Amino acid sequence: MLRLPSPHSFDKIPTPFYYYDMGLLGETLDTLSAMAEKYCIKVHYAMKANYEGKIMRKIAERGFGADCVTANEAEWAVKNGFVPGKLMFAGVGKTDDEIRRCLLLGIGAFNCESIQELQVIDSIAGEMGLRARVGIRMNPNVDAHTHRYITTGLEENKFGIETYAIDSLVSTLKTCRNVDFTGLHFHVGSQILDSIEEVFRLTCERAGEIVKAFEDRGLEVGSIDLGGGLGVLYADPDSALVPDFEKWFSTIDKYLRRRPEQVVRVEPGRSVVAQCGSLISRVLYVKPARTKTFLILDAGMNDLIRPALYGAFHLIENLSAGFRGEEVMQDYDVVGPVCESDDVWGNNRELPLSLRGDLMAIRSAGAYGSTMSSRYNLRDLAKAVFSDEI
Ligand SMILES: Cc1ncc(COP(=O)(O)O)c(C=O)c1O
Repeated sequence: MLRLPSPHSFDKIPTPFYYYDMGLLGETLDTLSAMAEKYCIKVHYAMKANYEGKIMRKIAERGFGADCVTANEAEWAVKNGFVPGKLMFAGVGKTDDEIRRCLLLGIGAFNCESIQELQVIDSIAGEMGLRARVGIRMNPNVDAHTHRYITTGLEENKFGIETYAIDSLVSTLKTCRNVDFTGLHFHVGSQILDSIEEVFRLTCERAGEIVKAFEDRGLEVGSIDLGGGLGVLYADPDSALVPDFEKWFSTIDKYLRRRPEQVVRVEPGRSVVAQCGSLISRVLYVKPARTKTFLILDAGMNDLIRPALYGAFHLIENLSAGFRGEEVMQDYDVVGPVCESDDVWGNNRELPLSLRGDLMAIRSAGAYGSTMSSRYNLRDLAKAVFSDEI
C-alpha cells in the first residue's frame, strides 16, 4: 500500500496529481550513492525519466551528473544544481542550435551518434573557437530482452554507430581539429529486470571488444558509459521499493574489463524515480456494463501514457477503500476519461468495492510519467505534490 504521511493527506488536493514520496527518493539515492562508491562507477541521472525541479535538485545534491537529450534538458539541469561539466548529451538528432548552446554551457561531453554529427560538432566548435568533448555512442547489437519500443542497442535501432564503421569513425575523429575524444557510450534499452545479468554481461563483453578496437587504432578510451536500463517491479512495487543497484553494478564490475584510470559511467533514469511517484486520481463514475463494471477515473492516458503506449502494467490501489477497511472484492475494468479506447489503466483488476469519489493510486509512476504527459483533449496537466510539503 502507498506510504502516506496520514490517511487524509490528499483530501483537499484536486485530482489527478503526481505524488512524490521524497523519503523514498532519499532512500533510493542513499543506496545508489553507496553502490556507486563501492564499485567506483559515476552516475549520470537520465533526466528524461523525471525533470521536476525539486527532484532534480535532490539528485544533484548527491554530486551525480545528468544525461540529457535536448539542450533544454541540459539548461534545466544546470538551473537545478547540476554541474555543467557532469552533463552528457545523447540523442540521434541534435540540432545545430542545441550543439551551440551545449558548447556555451560547457557540458561534460556530447555522446555523438553518427559520423556526420561528429563532423558538424567539430565544425560548429571551430566556428565558436571552442573545443568539444565528444564520446561516441556505439551500437553493440545486444538484445535487451525488453519491450521493442525501449530496445535501443540492436542494429535495427536508430541509436549509436555500428561497429562496421569503426575504421571510418576513427579516421574521422583523427581529422577533427576541435574535438577531444573522451570515450565510448552504450545504452541497450530500458526496464531490464530479470535478464539484467545476462544483458549487461553481453554489453560489457561487447564494450570491451569495441574499446580494444579503438585503442588498437590509436585512440585512448578514457571513459566507458554503459547507459541506463535497470528495471523496476511494476507488479509488486512494495516488495522492492529500492531497485537492486548492487546486482547491476556488481555485474558491470565482474564483466567489464577496465584499467584503473578508466572512468566507468551509468545513466539510470527509471530505477531512480519510478517507485517514488504515484499518479493519484478519483473515481468519477462506476459504470456497470453487461459483462463487466467500468471504473472511470479522472486520470487519463494524457497524464501517464505508458499503459496505452507500451501496454505497460501499473498496480492500482483504492486508497479510500483501504481506509474504510472494505472487504468485498470485485473485478473492474479501470479506465480514464480520454476519448480513446486504449485509455485503460487495467482490465479485470480485482479491487475492493469502489465508489464514486474514491481516491486511487496508480503506482510506480515516477518515471516516464509526467515527462511524457500531454494536453490531449485540452486536459490540464497533472500537478506535482511532494510528501514533505503536505
Ligand atoms: C542514452 C540513454 N541513457 C539512459 C537512459 C535511461 O534509461 P533507464 O530509464 O532505463 O535507466 C535512456 C533511456 O532511454 C537513454 O536513452
